[in-house]
Amino acid sequence: MKYSYQRSHQCGELRIEDKEKEVSLSGWIHRRRDHGGLIFIDLRDKYGITQLVLDPVKTPVAHTLRSEWVINAKGIVHPRAHEMINEKLETGKIEIKVVNMEILSKSHTPPFSLCDEHIETHEEIRLHYRYLDIRRGKIANNLLLRHNVMMTTRNFLDKEGFIEISTPILGKSTPEGARDYIVPSRVHPGSFYALPQSPQLFKQLLMIAGTDRYFQIAPCFRDEDLRADRQPEFTQIDIEMSFGHPDQLMNIIERLLKAVFERANILFPDSIPKLTYRECIDRYGTDKPDTRFGMELVDITDIGARSNFSVFKDQIDQENIVKAIRVKNAADLSRKNIEDYTAFVGNFGISGLAWMRMENNALNSNIVKFFDEELQKELITRMQLENNDLLLMIANEPGNTNQALDHLRRRIATERNLIDPKLHNFLWVTDFPLFDFDEHENRLVSMHHPFTSPHPDDIALIDTKPLSVRSSGYDIVLNGYEIGGGSQRIHNSDLQRKIFSSLNINETEQQNKFGFFLEALEFGTPPHLGIALGLDRLLMILSGTNNIKDVIAFPKTQKASDLMMHCPSEVSQELLNELSIETIKDNLTQKRT
Ligand code: AMO
Repeated sequence: MKYSYQRSHQCGELRIEDKEKEVSLSGWIHRRRDHGGLIFIDLRDKYGITQLVLDPVKTPVAHTLRSEWVINAKGIVHPRAHEMINEKLETGKIEIKVVNMEILSKSHTPPFSLCDEHIETHEEIRLHYRYLDIRRGKIANNLLLRHNVMMTTRNFLDKEGFIEISTPILGKSTPEGARDYIVPSRVHPGSFYALPQSPQLFKQLLMIAGTDRYFQIAPCFRDEDLRADRQPEFTQIDIEMSFGHPDQLMNIIERLLKAVFERANILFPDSIPKLTYRECIDRYGTDKPDTRFGMELVDITDIGARSNFSVFKDQIDQENIVKAIRVKNAADLSRKNIEDYTAFVGNFGISGLAWMRMENNALNSNIVKFFDEELQKELITRMQLENNDLLLMIANEPGNTNQALDHLRRRIATERNLIDPKLHNFLWVTDFPLFDFDEHENRLVSMHHPFTSPHPDDIALIDTKPLSVRSSGYDIVLNGYEIGGGSQRIHNSDLQRKIFSSLNINETEQQNKFGFFLEALEFGTPPHLGIALGLDRLLMILSGTNNIKDVIAFPKTQKASDLMMHCPSEVSQELLNELSIETIKDNLTQKRT
């Protein structure tokens, strides 16, 4: 049986060559124009728009039609009169003279315009009516790109001998640095599953299982503070291989990314530079630098030490550093601009921002007098200053100084349009420290995760100088975003136990949390390594947005809520009883206010 709504063509398909054809189109009413005698409808579907012409005398119901109603129209393709041709539409040379029309479903007046994506609509409303937002087209295009990237990834990795294996969603907590989302067990009252922060342990177990090359487009869940490039629920292109070298894995990833970029019609760079973590911090103040513009950080501690500027000298006496950036052609920045920047760096624990202008081949500033002529020359040469350049300097503790200059550098680049949006600059970052020191917890923590192998040359330092131990981890950065990270793994249970102990995880805890894994490591573990790319972040950059929500069909807000489904939400007392869960009422009231 044929249904009345079945189409002969899609709404983007008909051309002048189709004239006189009898057609059937179905779709949404994009626009309706009442021209006295005739009613014109732009009928829209995923593929395009076709103009329908209705005679209300023959089809009186045409008067009642409204935006976003779903209709089927049957009629004849006609060439449009010359002055009616719309060159912007692929179907713009024809229209359908409707013989028969059927309303398939009606619509409320949409809460925002679906015709014009340029009209600003509050994000909360767009998320509430996400299905309408997707229908508008821009998000739908991003979802199409997402599909294409996933297909390209699967095809590429399949050809390279990687097989996709799904791993459990209900599992045991794996430490990736965030809080776990947990799921209570009804069958085991008081026990919980954890949703995977990543499939890290499973993929390593698959290497022990002899799988050799694994990948998965894997859902991951992390309860952490959200930012524009973070979602609580996100997707990784997760990869692991046995008996490989990091250079070999990096080469596979570069070729995968090249294939993905080609699919997205974006030019892929000829080569991806590598920088060590130390070089990154020295030159950019961050381990995920945006290298699309210069303005690198330069250490001028030695110059500061030889000056008479007490602010610098006091900081240097406390073993702190002085670093500077040169802003090209920015001598026009006003005192007010500099005051703004000073307040801005204040957010990172910096109390002052020193500045000098290069004017008429000489430095000009309220602090120039503290630098003798030789020192000024040295500063000009070191900073490669030219006329009209502005020099901004910070003296403080290294961590704060680097962080503040990283943010300032990026802010200035955005404000002064120094970034070419067409550029896609990748960077591999290597030689990370294995550990970081968590002041709050007063213990060492893993910079990546505890399964990352120490650099082979630094193993002897684990007990004596743990903070100097480098890891064999690597990150891949694109335009200032960390789009992936991975490492060579520990494949020896003694070394794994040693690392756990360095992280202050005692033997009982090791056994409770990772006993299964430590046991598995003792059954013949191949040397293995891997990486995970953040699919959503990659797509965000490929689609030219800076909001990760734009590439996810049903994303969560900054507070991890789904505004369409209204979740998280309360569950019935019955369900809680079944799970042996009691909520602490006082806590709830306190946390909700
Ligand atoms: P890592 O924690 O670095 O490594 O995660 C890999 C990549 O996932 C992306 N990512 C996120 N994207 C969106 N929202 C988030 N909340 C979020 N968190 C991470 C980033 C990041 O680079 N198991 C290891 C990988 C490995 O060692 O193989 C891991 O998960 O782009």
